[in-house]
Amino acid sequence: MIRKALLILAIIILLIQMFRPEQNISASAPANAIEAHYPVSKRIGALLRSSCYDCHSNNTVYPWYSKVQPFAWWLRSHITEGKRELNFDEFNSYDNKKKKHKLDEVVEMIEKNEMPLSSYTLIHKKAVLSSQEKNEIIAWAKELKNAIH
Ligand code: HEC
Repeated sequence: MIRKALLILAIIILLIQMFRPEQNISASAPANAIEAHYPVSKRIGALLRSSCYDCHSNNTVYPWYSKVQPFAWWLRSHITEGKRELNFDEFNSYDNKKKKHKLDEVVEMIEKNEMPLSSYTLIHKKAVLSSQEKNEIIAWAKELKNAIH
């Protein structure tokens, strides 16, 4: 019984490997990227890239497990939802009200340790932010918010 169930499970796992979701990789330089329109220091840019851009930009650095289902689907849904909420590569296409609101949310998400997602930092250790790094991003987001009118 168990053997049969395991065999069926193995077949299902093999079969779903045939699905390859389209990847979030954009070839063209993003015209509305936040750093093209607002001050983003090298340091802040590097922090955002390593902790947020996999789900909040037009370019994801795909990990090895992204080739394996069902992780590819799972990652794909995080990217789709993450980009819908906030896309740093489309930031300049938002109106000022939305820009300020999104920056507020960045502060809130980091303060509450909701971002980056814990299911992601479990594997992506480099995305974990130290309290010093969190403070730097929070200070940057607040300053930028105040500069937008
Ligand atoms: C593994 C993917 C992933 C990473 C990495 C990630 N996010 Fe998110 N983010 C999401 C998803 C999915 C959502 C939408 C669902 C939710 O709010 O949980 C989201 C939502 C958000 C929102 C909107 C929240 C709201 O309530 O409207 C903000 C702001 C945000 N993320 C900021 C960040 C910042 C800043 C980082 C880096 C420090 C980051 N995220 C890293 C996946 C990610």
